[in-house]
Amino acid sequence: MATLEIVNVTKKFGSVTVLKGIDIVAADGEFLVLVGPSGCGKSTLLSAIAGLQSNDGGEIRINGIDVSEQHPKDRDIAMVFQTYALYPNLSVWENIAFPLEARGISKAERRLEAEKVAGLLHLTEYLDRKPRQLSGGQRQRVAMGRALVRDPQIFLFDEPLSNLDAKLRVVMRTEIKKMHKNLGTTMVYVTHDQIEAMTLATKIVVLRDGEVQQAGSPDDVYHTPKNKFVASFMGSPSMNFIKGILRRNEVGARIEIVRPGGGEVALDLPVSSNLARQFDGKAVILGIRPEAMIDAKSETKDGTYQRIEWPLEILEPTGADTIAVLKSNMGDDSEGEMVARFSAKTSATPGTLVSINIDVSAVCLFDAQTEDAIFHASTVGKSVPAPILLSERKA
Ligand SMILES: Nc1ncnc2c1ncn2[C@@H]1O[C@H](COP(=O)(O)OP(=O)(O)OP(=O)(O)O)[C@@H](O)[C@H]1O
Ligand SMILES: [Mg+2]
Repeated sequence: MATLEIVNVTKKFGSVTVLKGIDIVAADGEFLVLVGPSGCGKSTLLSAIAGLQSNDGGEIRINGIDVSEQHPKDRDIAMVFQTYALYPNLSVWENIAFPLEARGISKAERRLEAEKVAGLLHLTEYLDRKPRQLSGGQRQRVAMGRALVRDPQIFLFDEPLSNLDAKLRVVMRTEIKKMHKNLGTTMVYVTHDQIEAMTLATKIVVLRDGEVQQAGSPDDVYHTPKNKFVASFMGSPSMNFIKGILRRNEVGARIEIVRPGGGEVALDLPVSSNLARQFDGKAVILGIRPEAMIDAKSETKDGTYQRIEWPLEILEPTGADTIAVLKSNMGDDSEGEMVARFSAKTSATPGTLVSINIDVSAVCLFDAQTEDAIFHASTVGKSVPAPILLSERKA
């Protein structure tokens, strides 16, 4: 059990700064999920925590003690690497139990521990095989087993499920969640999988180019993204963006939108009078999640929807519902298309304008210049969540 504080950590490779002053706090028992585009520094950060690479600046504190100068062995951290290696001459159970050998635990006991972990990882039937007789996904789970058998203070997992097929991934995701619930060990987990991040994390940290963009609960990061990058990175399909001009009015503000292919539409948003004054006449970007853009013909329960007509490009039936791919007005450097959720029985015709209901109680607004979020409709009438502060810094 351990708290983990990463305080202003920097790391350079040659002249390139890969970690640019990272601050992250994980409480005891936290399931911290690190996400971010390829190359943003996730694995580098894990290596720094484990002590496999020294950091150039800042501190890594476990239970309040700076371990930056400590040998990896002394940190009591178990890491599962993105590229893991197994001992080819040892069997599966010997690979899993390997960390126990140095502790002087008897062979019979080691076998027993390996069996327990193997059960958790659905590897029981492979215990006596050699790594070369396993598939990639099975090998990856053996690597996980080797970490799990140790019962360390902190687990670091670098995309541990990346080699598994979709079905096994879901099974293993549940196993990891159960394991965390049972053990309560502090966990730092890297993934590219949105569902994994949302379902496993107690806290998500979004990294970009060696900097923390946002840290918060899955709900915070999803519903109140700090900027357009976080908004577009979290969620699949990703948030839709529409550019427009804000005009102050009696409800707060109206956003005037030029439709691709011509015509204008508008939406009224209950923004504060301060914000309306500040952005009156300025370019803003409206962010709407696909689930908040629905077929105007489908039933809408409450009065937070506003209707617009918008050009439909194509329909993609998925079985349960239909993904409506809409034209974007973001211009050449756009995020591509927009996506709305229509019912499986939709009668909309591609190539025409379709009526769409937009749930304005769930939209976000971004300053078009800075791309920082200026408004989250979901927080209107609620108190804004307090920023997550670093635990006090010891000088
Ligand atoms: N040993 C090294 N020497 C030089 N550059 C490195 C080294 N290790 C990593 N880098 C660079 O540092 C940056 C961050 O790499 P890192 O492996 O941490 O990214 P990542 O976020 O884990 O990406 P991915 O999602 O692809 O695994 C990359 O630009 C990478 O090329
Ligand atoms: Mg990596």
